[in-house]
Amino acid sequence: MKTLIIGGSGLISTAITRQLVDRGDDLILYNRGRTPLRVDSDTITVIRGDRTDAARFEDQLAALGPLDSVIDMVCFDPAEAASAIRACQGRVGQYIFCSSVTVYNKAGAGYPLTEDAPRDHPVGDYAAKKARCEELFLEAHARGDLPFMGRYGGGTRKRMSQRTLL
Ligand SMILES: NC(=O)c1ccc[n+]([C@@H]2O[C@H](COP(=O)([O-])OP(=O)(O)OC[C@H]3O[C@@H](n4cnc5c(N)ncnc54)[C@H](OP(=O)(O)O)[C@@H]3O)[C@@H](O)[C@H]2O)c1
Repeated sequence: MKTLIIGGSGLISTAITRQLVDRGDDLILYNRGRTPLRVDSDTITVIRGDRTDAARFEDQLAALGPLDSVIDMVCFDPAEAASAIRACQGRVGQYIFCSSVTVYNKAGAGYPLTEDAPRDHPVGDYAAKKARCEELFLEAHARGDLPFMGRYGGGTRKRMSQRTLL
């Protein structure tokens, strides 16, 4: 699979990078080059850039052509989500957005939380922005612009629109 990780060298994403290298993916990482890559592989393509520079980011992603999968590990702002949707719509097989469990109300009605749990009181600005990013990706999915998919919990995979929660 031709897979792009936005990030890929960080705390969480390093493990994903390792697994995809082991799986033999045609792996591309997009990051600024500030965080050392702790995966020893000469098969990874690294693209340097800052995704907050939306115009350049979108040009760089467009230059990659069709992608089987994009794993977005560093999207924290709705403007970044909108930019990713512009960059990827119509040419990505699967888009995985790394969200946060903080989008859900702190005192959940019951555990484990499901993706249908109330999200009307996200915990702080970080969570509110993550929740808005989720909405933008879900809207793009509903329009047919971006197959948006994730998984969470005990290995269940219920719908194409699931989010990845950490
Ligand atoms: N860490 C947690 O406890 C936690 C908990 C819940 C959810 N999450 C979510 O998990 C995701 C990843 O968290 P993490 O802390 O483990 O991060 P991470 O995977 O360490 O992410 C950092 C990666 O993104 C790159 N990066 C950072 N800013 C960038 C930018 N502006 N443009 C391009 N690349 C950039 C970094 O490389 P460079 O520095 O070289 O650019 C590095 O590869 C986030 O979406 C976060 O909301 C994390």
